[in-house]
Amino acid sequence: MGYSFEEGVNRKGTACIKWDFQEMDYKGKSGLLPFSIADADYRTYEPILAALKARIDNGVIGYTDLEPAYLEAVVNWCRRRHGLVIEPDWIVPTGGIVPAMAQALEALTEPGAKVIVQPPVYDPFYSIIQASGREMLLNDLILDETGYHMNLPQLQEMVEAGASVLMLCSPHNPVCRVWTREELQQVADICKGHDVIILADEIHWDLVLGGRAHVSMGAFPEIREQLILCTSCSKTFNVAGLETSNLIIPGDDLRGRYRDYLFARYLFVPNTLGLEAVKAAYQDGDDWVDAECAFLTENAQIVCDFMREHLPKVKVAEPEGTYLLWFDMTAYGKSSEELVDAIAEAGAGLNAGAHYGENYDGYVRMNIACPKEQLLGGLNCIKAALDQLS
Ligand SMILES: Cc1ncc(COP(=O)(O)O)c(C=O)c1O
Repeated sequence: MGYSFEEGVNRKGTACIKWDFQEMDYKGKSGLLPFSIADADYRTYEPILAALKARIDNGVIGYTDLEPAYLEAVVNWCRRRHGLVIEPDWIVPTGGIVPAMAQALEALTEPGAKVIVQPPVYDPFYSIIQASGREMLLNDLILDETGYHMNLPQLQEMVEAGASVLMLCSPHNPVCRVWTREELQQVADICKGHDVIILADEIHWDLVLGGRAHVSMGAFPEIREQLILCTSCSKTFNVAGLETSNLIIPGDDLRGRYRDYLFARYLFVPNTLGLEAVKAAYQDGDDWVDAECAFLTENAQIVCDFMREHLPKVKVAEPEGTYLLWFDMTAYGKSSEELVDAIAEAGAGLNAGAHYGENYDGYVRMNIACPKEQLLGGLNCIKAALDQLS
């Protein structure tokens, strides 16, 4: 089926963070080909755009709530795409996933509570723990010749020592792991029976590469009462700017406490246009997502082939999921910042790996959700920069 991932969109002049606000991240440089913040440089799913236009044509964007068709669309997406059977009242609509996770920490734990993260990891995880006055426990991933793995014995120690929250990133940004059922079963076994909340950020849950399948933490009934599943169509359907997500909280107690926190702060009014987007995406977006995953798989392959052929000193973490690739460039003996600066000098904007954890200087992250011409342009900039550094 013909979708337009290859066509690209002119995003310049739309106050787009990635295209229009480069100076701050790249020491005053602008006009770079961007491969940074996690949105895509291809067009949003057309039925979403049509639904937004239709809603606007009504002439009023007033307060809205969750209609049955919305709940049905979310419930059915969970079942069709992720094999999850959920009740409509488990769905707690929210804004962005990051603010929702920050609210969950405040709503459900006490100051000083211990929160586990698994570096290298999406950097706002660190910032929301620090901002909430909770204590961070670092359960670094282990890298061996087969890729990144969780340090499960250490995770077990942390849980047994009284950690209150595990912030799980699944699929994992930035190491692009799609955790296997066996790995996640072990996480469930470790957490089960302990007073630890599993705050599972599954924002990238639909974006699996090479025919892989994502396993949701919602698939483990034994930890149901402890689970907050953070889901969204924002990355999948390229509507991140609508800041609309769905938490799925099966446990009555946890959901009640979280809802009370939101209600007391009047944080319960969903984004009217966001709701339209979610409904349109989840009603019928299956073919589009399958095509998107195939497209991203091709892009990931192009990057891996390019690196193997032209820059063999760069180690690419196996691209299993998300559209964010993770490069180990430590062989160049430069800091992440120096690498990103050199690549920016050559014309492309990437993210410094050091942002994702203090042990990851010399690493760089690249967003590959763009037309191939742009992707190849970026790869040539990386090559030009690294050839100079060699
Ligand atoms: C793992 C992960 N969680 C959350 C977010 C951001 O979510 P939101 O914009 O809904 O706060 C991102 C964006 O890149 C992400 O990669």
